[in-house]
Amino acid sequence: MIVHRDNIFGLHRGDYSLLLRLNAYGLVELLHFGEAVETADWQAFLCQPGLGWGSSILLDDKDTASCPDSLPLAWSGSGRGDYRESPLELGTATDFRYASHEIIDGIVAMDSPLPQAKGLAKTLKITMTQPGAELNLYFTLFDGVLTRRARLQNTGDAPITVTKFMSSLLDLPGDYEMTTFDGGWIAEARKHRVPVLDSRIVNESTTGASSNRHNPGFLLSEPGATEDAGRVYGFNLIYSGNHYAAAQRSLQGLTRVVQGISPNNFAKILEPGAVFETPEAVMAFSDQGFGGLSEKMHRFVHDHIIPRQFREKERPVLFNSWEGCMFDFDHRRLVNLAKEAKSLGCELFVLDDGWFGQRNDDTAGLGDYNVNPKKLPHGLKGLGDKIRSLGMEFGLWFEPESVNPDSDLYRAHPDWALTDGFQPLLGRHQLLLDLTKPEVRDYIVENVGRTLDSAPISYVKWDMNRHSTALGAKAHDYILGLYEVLRRIFGPRPEILLESCSSGGNRFDLGMLCFGPQIWCSDNTDPMERQTIQGNLSYLYPQSTFGAHVSAAPHAQTLRSTPLCTRANVSFFGCLGYELDLKHLISIEKKEIQGQIELYKQYRKVFQFGTFRRLQGGWQVSDGKITLAATFRGLVPAAPGYGTLRLKGLDRHKRYRFRTNPQKLRIGQFGNLVKHVVPVNLNPNGVLLRTADRHITLPDGIQEMTISGAALLAGIRLLPVFRGTGYDKNQRTLTDFGSELYIIEEDSHEKS
Ligand code: GLA
Repeated sequence: MIVHRDNIFGLHRGDYSLLLRLNAYGLVELLHFGEAVETADWQAFLCQPGLGWGSSILLDDKDTASCPDSLPLAWSGSGRGDYRESPLELGTATDFRYASHEIIDGIVAMDSPLPQAKGLAKTLKITMTQPGAELNLYFTLFDGVLTRRARLQNTGDAPITVTKFMSSLLDLPGDYEMTTFDGGWIAEARKHRVPVLDSRIVNESTTGASSNRHNPGFLLSEPGATEDAGRVYGFNLIYSGNHYAAAQRSLQGLTRVVQGISPNNFAKILEPGAVFETPEAVMAFSDQGFGGLSEKMHRFVHDHIIPRQFREKERPVLFNSWEGCMFDFDHRRLVNLAKEAKSLGCELFVLDDGWFGQRNDDTAGLGDYNVNPKKLPHGLKGLGDKIRSLGMEFGLWFEPESVNPDSDLYRAHPDWALTDGFQPLLGRHQLLLDLTKPEVRDYIVENVGRTLDSAPISYVKWDMNRHSTALGAKAHDYILGLYEVLRRIFGPRPEILLESCSSGGNRFDLGMLCFGPQIWCSDNTDPMERQTIQGNLSYLYPQSTFGAHVSAAPHAQTLRSTPLCTRANVSFFGCLGYELDLKHLISIEKKEIQGQIELYKQYRKVFQFGTFRRLQGGWQVSDGKITLAATFRGLVPAAPGYGTLRLKGLDRHKRYRFRTNPQKLRIGQFGNLVKHVVPVNLNPNGVLLRTADRHITLPDGIQEMTISGAALLAGIRLLPVFRGTGYDKNQRTLTDFGSELYIIEEDSHEKS
């Protein structure tokens, strides 16, 4: 609901409100953003500056309350008395004042190819003007989430140069801490929480992509906010290019937050009549801590961002050829792998890099689309048909935005590579194609489209491994080109499941999610690392957007050995896949994987679409009736304490059947301690133990009970863990990096 009374706008939806006030000078003041309140109470939120604040500038010399530097604003000018961060810079002063407004049913469609949130909404459009330019501010109300964006039109007769244009500006009263998600390749989404003080904190990407360095999503929380309590704001941007966000506290105790395209080297010339619009910024508020905020963000992504046709569509368990084969495969090897994958329960076989051109390593072939006849003598169609005949779907990897100098494409069109006037710099032996050129976009659309139509392909992994050196406005135009290409390829082929990837999670953003519902979180599949990466991404993105694979141990990036069950228990909380050489699996491992996939399929809907909650030391997903909870352990201490599992969101009056998902212990893991486990004396280095290890497993401790929701919410004690006193089937013996999965189902037989 959007209420307009006199000079007040009340924007209300569900449990949040935004109150705006048009002040006497035509500036838009932000009275309140957060808890649901009444429009009629607007006066309670008024900030009333009493003084002219010393050396500050006044909008009206007679009105000491007219100091723009001390007002809480929802937009501001630059060089006109507000010395805080400005949202729009044109090389001269800017001073936009209110001209008109409109209340619109629904969303307002973008003029450009930028993606935007879709669905039931109401929009307030405020138009502000200054001589020669018109500015539109859009505030769109979705369930749980508010979006904002801005649009500038040159209404004068001389060009305007835009050097900075934010999507949103908010002055929030109070002190906050800012949480950002930073990192790099194989180390995505490291969480950092720092107080917002009087110096500016910036969360920015300048790599041409949203980047693994700084995810565009971030949080502002009141000091002391916890997972389950306290006031928390969440922010994100529907954009895959260079982004910028900053927070800074003012002397008057207002925290200014801006979000938008990075102004780094940005310059866009607007000719008379021309328009520039910003990406859409996303913001939400919860008074129920980080968990409450995440729930809102998850629902928003699910309902308003990912393509509609995938909203409730269960995603297939996939097998990906990359980590197992790299570039070394042929038709026979792939078919054998597919047979193995099928026998384990996989539903989709994905052929990763290496199927085209002279792509035998990463130095050549990108840009070419001719199938390598040596590796694939029956073509993609022959392979796809064979895989389909085995009862699996077929998926394919592409990296359409890049070109290797050693490729037919580059030899034919060296000018299609994105250049910056200097000697080209290679990244992973490749250059980016210039997606701002229509002929380049046409080439990609035609070739990817032709390939997709040439074989039964139901899934695409869209990779991007070299980031841009193109700066500023060109970087933005590149992203617009990418969005056009994606729309042209996948618009007519809506059934294709698109998973985006950029050296792992280098483009984990809401822009890419508007085109494909899942993203490869990281090339790092070590489950201990994944607990960090997936756990931290979960602050802003639902688990159905996570491509999460079980890979081999010891792990390629950490050399860490982890139990197979932990690798699966982490990947279950996402879209499960397997990515390892299956021919090296021994039969007990195969059996274990079969069991994992069976379990995942049984509860897939809950794993993928259930409400995700972070627990102390674990995660849970729940659809209300079924809850699946995993607890993860790091290094086992010598004298372990009692373990407690405290679940969330259950009905305290209902009864639930609680059980451990059975896990197996490999006998070989005991080494010279094996005498504590089996009654025979085995040589720890002998053939007998090695043979036994391949065939004999021991059950790990199982806990089973029917119990009230109240007890599960209060926290129940888990089975003891190994304490140096030998194997006991009633304890949890899994050692370092162990984990358990618990299945909790509403008990329909018991009366509440
Ligand atoms: C990137 C991706 C990997 C894989 C390789 C193939 O590194 O992140 O998953 O697809 O490219 O070259």
